Amino acid sequence: MGDGLVSTTFLSEFQQHFGAVAPRDLLQTRAPGRVNLIGEHTDYNDGFVLPIAIERHSTIVARPRLDASVRLYSLAREELAEFSLEQQVAKGAPGWSLYARGVAEALRAAGLVRHGVDALVASDIPLGGGLSSSASFEVAFALALLAANGQTLPPVQLAQACRWAENEYAGAPCGIMDQFISVLAEAGRAMLLDCRDLSYRQVPLRDPDIGIMVINSQVHHNLAQGQYALRRAQCRQAVDSLRADFPQITSLREVSGKMLAQGCSGELGRDKVVLRRAGHVVGENQRTLDFAAALERQDWHSCGELMYQSHQSLRDDYEVSCPELDVLVEIARSVPGVYGARMTGGGFGGCIVALTRREAGPRLAAAVQIEYPRRCGHKALLFLTEAAAGASVQRPSG
Ligand code: GLA
Repeated sequence: MGDGLVSTTFLSEFQQHFGAVAPRDLLQTRAPGRVNLIGEHTDYNDGFVLPIAIERHSTIVARPRLDASVRLYSLAREELAEFSLEQQVAKGAPGWSLYARGVAEALRAAGLVRHGVDALVASDIPLGGGLSSSASFEVAFALALLAANGQTLPPVQLAQACRWAENEYAGAPCGIMDQFISVLAEAGRAMLLDCRDLSYRQVPLRDPDIGIMVINSQVHHNLAQGQYALRRAQCRQAVDSLRADFPQITSLREVSGKMLAQGCSGELGRDKVVLRRAGHVVGENQRTLDFAAALERQDWHSCGELMYQSHQSLRDDYEVSCPELDVLVEIARSVPGVYGARMTGGGFGGCIVALTRREAGPRLAAAVQIEYPRRCGHKALLFLTEAAAGASVQRPSG
């Protein structure tokens, strides 16, 4: 590894927590967070999503160990976590270490890793802000542990191992979107991912006249996790009801608007809530495909309109928005030069994403800075991002 790969700050932090080290004995991995442009709550329904990686990352600086111990120091939490790869990795404290423990177990059980690491964990992704700080931590750690063991894993399997960690160890029943984009993103492109067979198409998104702004509501309502699991259950219930008419279907992905209308005359029609949930997913899949097509022709007005429609559906039919996100979208809508905006990620707080003419960025920022505190009582944070590249490993060169 060339000099200067690991920043002097990280090097001195590493030495403070793990003792003296030569820079050539360290490896560094980085994995981006993500913002989803459209296709929300569709991944666990075998549907379509269209995220980009953002220019914010989890970074791991690691030194391979000869034994099976893993020692992680989190700069954000100022806390050390330790576990062993000798046997099945324990689901222990602290809570943030569960992501790494799950990843370690997935790789250990696959026979890929035996040696542990001493590692510094850093991130410039707002934690808990709905920008996949956890998925990017999983991916960066997986790459570090693999590299320390002289191993690699095909990208799709890497994303799947990380998702397994989040489901099984962190207890979050998420879909595949976050880990997948963190691993496979390409700079200057958005990814249209088909979550049924994991095929994907990279759609160019690099235009000097266009800006993508992420606006963090700085709220996180803690009903998020329970409501997420409930939405999953309601989607399954919709599929079960629709099977009376369409026995071949296994997910809402296979349901069209017409099929849904026909299903209304049966059991599904009696449960209005479940019907609205299904309506969101069916509509959102189509909006995501339409958005990808509009993006390909650089039809920003259509892209923006689809984002507003997506937000409305998430707010009214899927009911995963919250007043703060709705206010941010309304503010964005009032600013000339903003094409569209919507909540992004699981919901109940976190961020919105806005698609703007680039020159409208400062206007939008000013409107958010004035209007949001006035209406919601506290500040929002915002930043512009390009579509960034996926995760990477920088290895010692000898
Ligand atoms: C969270 C999950 C994703 C996805 C989104 C909603 O971010 O981690 O898998 O389900 O919610 O689209």
